[in-house]
Amino acid sequence: MRGEGTSMGRQLLKDQTAWISGGASGMGEAIAALFAQEGARVAVADVQEERGQAVAERIASAGGQVFFSLCNVTQEAQVRGSLDQTAARFGGLQIVVNCAGIVHVGPLHEYAEADWELLMGVNLKSIYFSLKHALPHLRRHERSYMVNIGSVGSLISQGLTPAYIASKHAVLGLSRSIALDYAVDGLRCNCICPGITDTPMLRYHLSTTPDPDATLAARLRRVPLGVAMHPPDIARAALYFSCDDSSGVTGTSLVVDGGYIAAAEWETTTPTQFMRNPS
Ligand SMILES: NC(=O)c1ccc[n+]([C@@H]2O[C@H](COP(=O)([O-])OP(=O)(O)OC[C@H]3O[C@@H](n4cnc5c(N)ncnc54)[C@H](O)[C@@H]3O)[C@@H](O)[C@H]2O)c1
Repeated sequence: MRGEGTSMGRQLLKDQTAWISGGASGMGEAIAALFAQEGARVAVADVQEERGQAVAERIASAGGQVFFSLCNVTQEAQVRGSLDQTAARFGGLQIVVNCAGIVHVGPLHEYAEADWELLMGVNLKSIYFSLKHALPHLRRHERSYMVNIGSVGSLISQGLTPAYIASKHAVLGLSRSIALDYAVDGLRCNCICPGITDTPMLRYHLSTTPDPDATLAARLRRVPLGVAMHPPDIARAALYFSCDDSSGVTGTSLVVDGGYIAAAEWETTTPTQFMRNPS
């Protein structure tokens, strides 16, 4: 464990422990940082060791209680080990955030079976593993929380990402199902559906197009706020679902997309306040 406590934030997660998959990058990194700032003890679980260690060091140097746990979420034994290690190290586990995700771009008929299996393993099966192996720990607490990162692709489709869209629809369905079956244990389970969010994943996805800047600009014209979401926007939604601010909320989803899926057709032609003054 590095660092002890923090004077920042509202301490909404004081005395809570959170395990965050995909914590080494993008949204997961922002969630880990915000949760630590709010007083949680945080496990950054990821397959990227160097990056994950660096995230843990940054959080610790800001005063957070954190450690990096090397974990490939497609491997059940590793998920179990990482969750057990987190609970042992911090004396319990109340919050599980499933944020690890990958995207595969291409038409379905060109997928190798391994591409399909890997994507479903990272984006979907990992949630089954984390629920199964976190449950003994979560049950020891009166209240516990699972937050799954879906996508606007949990609700609508987009071109050339069939497995991703299928996996994210399933993440929402699975979140609803978990909410029903484990309410008896004090668990609330919810799903966040981010829109276009500026992370390494988005940059990778754009890099598969002939002109990434033009692709991004065209996509952002479809967003009423006119801007990409930033990882802290998603982290604040995760915080809401992981504390009493959302008491009574379970089995639902929160779309954080700048208005992207509010309209079937939309073109932002006038600069918005959000474009002029990004927060
Ligand atoms: N960026 C977007 O526009 C966007 C939009 C909607 C939903 N999402 C979802 O948000 C989540 C976070 O994505 P991001 O945009 O921050 O991407 P990111 O690539 O920055 O972060 C994803 C993290 O998942 C980790 N990961 C991948 N495979 C793993 C494995 N097998 N085991 C453990 N960790 C693994 C990566 O190492 C990385 O740290 C994903 O579930 C993604 O599908 C992203």
